[in-house]
Amino acid sequence: KKRVALLISGGGSNMVRLIEDMQDEDHPCTAVLVASNDPNAAGLAKAAAFGVPTAAVDHKPFGKNRAAFEAELLKHIEAANPDIVVLAGFMRVLTADFVQRFEGRMLNIHPSLLPKYPGLHTHARAIEAGDTEAGCTVHEVTAVLDDGPLLGQARVPVEPGDTAETLAARVLRAEHRLYPAVLRRYGAGDKSRIDL
Ligand code: GAR
Repeated sequence: KKRVALLISGGGSNMVRLIEDMQDEDHPCTAVLVASNDPNAAGLAKAAAFGVPTAAVDHKPFGKNRAAFEAELLKHIEAANPDIVVLAGFMRVLTADFVQRFEGRMLNIHPSLLPKYPGLHTHARAIEAGDTEAGCTVHEVTAVLDDGPLLGQARVPVEPGDTAETLAARVLRAEHRLYPAVLRRYGAGDKSRIDL
């Protein structure tokens, strides 16, 4: 099986869905590490409950020195020897050096229909723009933030009266369908795009 390291920063609901899916013996991947930049991330305990090894490297003591933070994080990742790195709600921008190391084998999920709304506050921006449709994107990570070859998108309607919170919840449910579907294909070597 392909060895998958997952990077999180928070609750890790996408990570949990991916690990649940990888429990299937027919799945091409197995989870070998869940690492967080926040030692208090709720997702770490959830990963441990599945028996997946966890690591936390707090980014805060490193200040603006991203390379030093990443070097520490990298020790844990390399020790797990992953074939694929999955960013699942990982909220640190990665340096080009780090990205290059995993070029062509690192995925990210972003809560918008890229190329619309890279960066933060995607749901508020979609509502502000009067969009009638929102969604999420899984893509391969390149050195450009929230860019790179698209592997899948899932669309949801923006409903009248939506707030950033209600829209985020609807998009998150779509993320939970999309990310496992993409990882299954990707792990089997199929980089064709999925639209849900
Ligand atoms: C998800 O909505 C994900 O798309 C987003 O953070 C949330 C994490 O939720 N990621 C980004 O904004 C990346 N810049 P989760 O921890 O419950 O999976």
